Amino acid sequence: MNEFMSGSICYLNGNWEALADAKVSVLDRGFIFGDGIYEVIPVFSGIAFRLPEHLNRLEESLAATGIKNPFNRGAWVSIINQLVATNHGGDQSIYLQVTRGIAPRNHVLLEEVQPTVFLMSSPLVSNGPTTAIAAITLPDFRWQRCDIKTTSLLANVMSRFEASRLGSEEAIFIRDGFVTEGASSNVFVVKSGRIKTPPLSPGILPGVTRNLLVELSRGPDLVIEQAMVSKDELADADEVWVTSSGREMVPVVRIDDRPIGNGDVGPFFHEAQSIYREFKRRFSELEN
Ligand code: PDD
Repeated sequence: MNEFMSGSICYLNGNWEALADAKVSVLDRGFIFGDGIYEVIPVFSGIAFRLPEHLNRLEESLAATGIKNPFNRGAWVSIINQLVATNHGGDQSIYLQVTRGIAPRNHVLLEEVQPTVFLMSSPLVSNGPTTAIAAITLPDFRWQRCDIKTTSLLANVMSRFEASRLGSEEAIFIRDGFVTEGASSNVFVVKSGRIKTPPLSPGILPGVTRNLLVELSRGPDLVIEQAMVSKDELADADEVWVTSSGREMVPVVRIDDRPIGNGDVGPFFHEAQSIYREFKRRFSELEN
């Protein structure tokens, strides 16, 4: 554990404690079954970014899995704000997890239990200069409810390991010949001036960063189509980038060991990134 992590204060079931000291029972269904859901929320200048959108998705994940929502909106917001303040504001990344709780191992839950609620703060990785990455494509061998932000991420983890083994940072999933999403990101593709991202469906996570870019594309300077992207279109693209709350927008300049476009970060990425950054700047001004 690095110094920042061991010194950081986390929230576990109503208690505030040093991350290094926080402990969960081995019978927690998150540990036994991966029976939990999570969110990753970026914080800029002490303010949680797109918090209502993250809380909407949290509520949707809880409702879809039937895990009891332990808090109302106001209580979630105050725990998150307290966590940010306790960890000295500024820029950070909040990880929030809710599992179904602790019970004897049985697929079915036979008794009422309290969900386990855990939140921690980590350094934000997206700070610093934009760095382009390489990606690989892999068959999408995940389940059919990838719209739920579940902690059961074995397929995603295996895919990121495979990407890493091949010297790449991200794996882009292909289902039935079409791009779904990255193992931990949503995908955008540019060809001949058209920007496309796969449409929302149970096959992908409704990424908060993705949805923000789509929202910003309703302005005059950015047009993004939500449309299917074939594996060939991906390979043939002029530009590709991926988005996530952890890393914001990241250009992908090589896929399966071949350059995308001319192998450099392209003009559409820069344009979209500057519109996104301008939105963030206005957000920080309004909130501070
Ligand atoms: N992952 N798709 C998948 C499978 C993801 O895991 C993520 C984010 C995204 C992007 O969603 P958002 O823009 O809301 O972060 C898409 C997080 C950051 C993670 O697991 O660390």
